[in-house]
Amino acid sequence: MDYQRNLAQEFLEFVERQPRQSLSQLLSRVLKKSRMLTDAEAGTVFIVRRKRGGASLQAVNVQNDRVRVKAADFEVPVNNKTVSGYVAATGETVIIDDVYNLDASKPYSFNSANEVHNYLSHSMLCFPLKNYANQVIGVVQLINRVGPGDTILPFDPYMAAIVAPVARVIGASIERTDMMDQIRLKNRTLQSRNKQLADQRAHIGNLQEQTEEAFLLSVGLLARAAEIHDEGTGNHIIRTNEYSYFIARHMGLPNNFCNEIRYSAQLHDVGKMSVDQAVLKKKGRLDDSERIEMDQHTTYGHKILCDSPRLQLAAEIALSHHEKWAGGGYPNGIAGTDIPMSARIVQVADIYDALRSERPYKAGFSHEQATDIILKGDDRIDPKEHFDPQLIELFADTHQGFADIWDDLKDAPSQTSS
Ligand SMILES: [Fe+2]
Ligand SMILES: [Fe+2]
Repeated sequence: MDYQRNLAQEFLEFVERQPRQSLSQLLSRVLKKSRMLTDAEAGTVFIVRRKRGGASLQAVNVQNDRVRVKAADFEVPVNNKTVSGYVAATGETVIIDDVYNLDASKPYSFNSANEVHNYLSHSMLCFPLKNYANQVIGVVQLINRVGPGDTILPFDPYMAAIVAPVARVIGASIERTDMMDQIRLKNRTLQSRNKQLADQRAHIGNLQEQTEEAFLLSVGLLARAAEIHDEGTGNHIIRTNEYSYFIARHMGLPNNFCNEIRYSAQLHDVGKMSVDQAVLKKKGRLDDSERIEMDQHTTYGHKILCDSPRLQLAAEIALSHHEKWAGGGYPNGIAGTDIPMSARIVQVADIYDALRSERPYKAGFSHEQATDIILKGDDRIDPKEHFDPQLIELFADTHQGFADIWDDLKDAPSQTSS
């Protein structure tokens, strides 16, 4: 018993000498050690593969000192028809003295077609490898015990007794290694799939980026197209985007809102495209019906924009940027918080920029003058009536930011005179 335990220990140390070895490396050592212990001339080690169609034995390693063999990839079904299949199916150890003279009472036969390269088998020892659950997970088939003078001897039953406990111990080791192999394989598959996914994601990200770029470009072009019949307003629309974004940020409004208003603000006067050209281009005062037509640029703009889900904010800005906090603006005369926040913001941005801008009929105001008018009013603007008081307060604190945007994006002299 002690001898067996020591043997098992030694066997285990032998086969596990190399850490992180692959299954075929491990099985190669199992086969080698089994052959050394039994003086077997040749041998094959199989691993049990369970598939939907039934279990089979896959030859993982073949060793033969007489003929050169490569790791065979033949499979044997797990059933009683072959010796190795029988061992796998029953978990029994089989000793055969002469494979060409089999005991007729046994269910298995010897198929010489399975012989490697005309190698002649005589004696055979075939034993199962089991895991701790006593399941057969592999089979070692040893062939031709070599005696003195190269004679072939039968395997001794004591050899079966030697390998029995060993088989159990290394079974666990094989199972562990096999599992590690499978995990490594699965990891490799996962890694390559992850890489594929990452590539796809990058591709989709690119497409989305391009789509977003195309969207922003066409929004910008639409805003530009709309002002072509308007007086030369240069970078007015772009600056309006930036003041609006600046205000929204300082108010701590959600990121989405800030990003949207940054491209939506420029569309506030897009409805001017639809205004009667004669009215739009008329120099001098508009009469009542002309004024009504001109004020329609708010509803026209809303109509142009409201069908696009991504231009909802732009649509509400276009509609309401001429409403007044105290009421009395157009087109709907709504007041206070009934006016969308986006429109209240763009109103301040629009008016600051209009004050700074040079027009055919007026010079541009300095930042100080424009700030003064927005905070204290003049003959045309009454801040209390026009603006959301919360925004006026914010403007009073942060107006330098408006000056910076103006300076960054102010028009080249040729643009303002166009
Ligand atoms: Fe307007
Ligand atoms: Fe404007």
